[in-house]
Amino acid sequence: MVLRRAGWMGGCAALLSACAPRPLPPPSLPSAITDRAADFAKSVPHVAASGMRDASEQAFVDSVLARMTLPEKLGQLTQYAGQWGQTGPRVETATEDAIRRGEVGSFLSVWGADVTRRLQRIAVEESRLGIPILFSHDVIHGFRTLFPVPLAEAASWDPDVARESARIAAAEASAYGIAWTFAPMMDVARDARWGRVVEGAGEDPHLGSVMAAARVRGFQGTDLRAPLSIAATAKHFAAYGAAEGGRDYNIADIPERTLRETYLPPFRAAVCAGAATFMASFNEIGGVPAHASRALQTDVLRGEWGFNGMVVSDWGGLQELIPHGVAAGRADAARLGLRAGVDMDMVSEVYLKELPAEIAAGRVPMAEVDEAVRRVLRLKYRLGLFANPYARGDTSRELPAGRLPAEHRRAAYEAAARSVVLLRNAGGVLPLDRARIRRLAVIGPLAADRHSPLGSWNGAGRDEDVVPVLDGIRRAAGSGITVDYTAGVDSVRSTSGGGFAAAVRAARAADAVVLVVGETEDMTGEASSRVSLDLPGAQRELVEAVRAAAGRKPVAVVLMNGRPLALEWMHDTVPAIVEAWFGGVEMGNAVGDVLFGEVNPGGKLPMTFPRATGQVPIYYNYRQTGRPADPRNEYTTGYERSPSTPLYPFGHGLSYTRFTYGAPRLSAARMGAGDTLSVTVEVTNAGGRAGDEVVQLYVRDPVAAVTRPVKELRGFRRIRLNPGETRAVTFRLTVDDLAFWDAAPRRIAEPGAFVVQVGGSSEQVQSAEFELVTVDGGAIAVPERCGAA
Ligand code: BGC
Repeated sequence: MVLRRAGWMGGCAALLSACAPRPLPPPSLPSAITDRAADFAKSVPHVAASGMRDASEQAFVDSVLARMTLPEKLGQLTQYAGQWGQTGPRVETATEDAIRRGEVGSFLSVWGADVTRRLQRIAVEESRLGIPILFSHDVIHGFRTLFPVPLAEAASWDPDVARESARIAAAEASAYGIAWTFAPMMDVARDARWGRVVEGAGEDPHLGSVMAAARVRGFQGTDLRAPLSIAATAKHFAAYGAAEGGRDYNIADIPERTLRETYLPPFRAAVCAGAATFMASFNEIGGVPAHASRALQTDVLRGEWGFNGMVVSDWGGLQELIPHGVAAGRADAARLGLRAGVDMDMVSEVYLKELPAEIAAGRVPMAEVDEAVRRVLRLKYRLGLFANPYARGDTSRELPAGRLPAEHRRAAYEAAARSVVLLRNAGGVLPLDRARIRRLAVIGPLAADRHSPLGSWNGAGRDEDVVPVLDGIRRAAGSGITVDYTAGVDSVRSTSGGGFAAAVRAARAADAVVLVVGETEDMTGEASSRVSLDLPGAQRELVEAVRAAAGRKPVAVVLMNGRPLALEWMHDTVPAIVEAWFGGVEMGNAVGDVLFGEVNPGGKLPMTFPRATGQVPIYYNYRQTGRPADPRNEYTTGYERSPSTPLYPFGHGLSYTRFTYGAPRLSAARMGAGDTLSVTVEVTNAGGRAGDEVVQLYVRDPVAAVTRPVKELRGFRRIRLNPGETRAVTFRLTVDDLAFWDAAPRRIAEPGAFVVQVGGSSEQVQSAEFELVTVDGGAIAVPERCGAA
């Protein structure tokens, strides 16, 4: 079986065919270059990890390029998928021959110290030039130690969580020979039907930028050559998250100013953080597929942003230019992709097979091929692969089941605990009071699920390493409480109520009830868009039956899911709702500690929760219509007999304690274009427990040349306060925070009034106003710059 749906690619995953090599002068230097590279690298220890145009690097790359034949060059531009054998990933014998010929630039989904070292040895010792192979894999939120899914980590509003989980993932993956991950995904997503919202940081460009930068830094570390660092990929470039109707792979019909204002900022932040590679997205934008978009892959990325790394296609993305309808055949697809600036071809094999004829016919300049090859070689160089091709695969660092390092588990626990969002807690049902509970009923099919907490893209994660929610609750409950478990339904998708009676009995016999419901991991991720955001199967009926049976006893729902769900009925029925996402290997322990109060939840929603599926796309930073929603006037924007407000807004999240906010204080009432304005707010823990609060700052430009969002997140800080403690939190605003893309589009800021809003959610805010003044009273250009993210 091919590791990832290679089936439909048919011939693509097949062996290299002869690709009509054009005779090039024989290499002037014999055999492998590896040793030379090692010496070379030693002589220039200052060579930067990434992002640096280093003269020595350039000279090295050019010296290799000068010796390459066309098949070797095209081989470097080609990435093959591994197969799955009895014992793990493997490759065909014929592909090994291709390695010997120097025609394999990269593998995806081939990992394991033994297999990668063996293949690397063939490349380095048996191929003519000895160019090392780049092994890659989707290391998305952990490799052996699975962390909460990226959407969950974004709910922590803590970039340290994302950075640390990426660092550990890189360290673990590198032991298996992986040098490059296809992460982070930074697609802003406003439509929860889209299955891949689970992979990103949610709906907001600013939060998304901060998280993207943190993940890039976590994967890559400060030195990309270090054996524990791996190259990151900023994906999917661009606007994949704008898929119409939330259907995966669908078109993104958005204007350039929406693209720039909403979808591009995290990518820009990734460049600023030094992301080594980018991946083109499957979608088209306004009729131009991203894989054929020179405007995106070259003009914006390399021209405007100065990115000098490598761009890889998505899986078969080049060949898909044919069904998109912009390429008549594979040769067209190859030409368009290369022209656009896509350097490496993931599994389509169109570069390898089609470019020789295109070059021979003069339709593709050799210089274009050379430039792409340079970028691939540069990446290998920056990763230190030439200097030490075996630095990463290390059997002694591989981790068998049950052997996750304690430090990694601790980090996974921290991440899971910090990602939990308390959505509702009427009457202070939570935390559960051990003194009042002798019997606790845990109900729901996901409570004992060992697999779903791993989330989609679960790397080399193993079910055996997962602490299921049920086990975590039992541990946290302690020996004084008897925990009765019953699933209630056979699976999340089951529509049978056959297990309800047992669930109702358990609820009646207990002093408190915890229901664990939601989605299984395979309901989110790629190709897992859902038409409805309702709880699947008979889970709603189960919750309602149990809730009714429980009477006045404490009842809490723990949600396990990878997207916002439509839970208005639940909000009206159940007093306490805990959003725990797919929380990784330590999910159970984190949830148990939240339920019993060892952990005071402090996460906030990175995506709006609607009341009903029909409201999506729904997001907090919408632009005002000429008829803003007014429930008393039906001729305003909204729905017939249904509110258009969210159930839980972006930034929402409760705590077991209570925070109060003072009015925001500004350092000045007027701000010049070169000034920094401070916004200070005092936050007090007015409750009885220590807790975390995420202080959020939004900005609004009420009157502008184009309509502006009702508010936009511009800063946030997660702080911890003891009971009674007050802390002043200060944000600094510059003109960059006030800038927007006008109709042209140009990035400008306009003088006039601005509103800042500070609070604990996008809807719980207090405001203050200031004025931006410019020298001549006109708009000023505000070029993009690498900011705080
Ligand atoms: C996904 C990418 C992923 C690639 C390689 C594609 O289908 O869209 O996100 O990195 O496969 O597995």
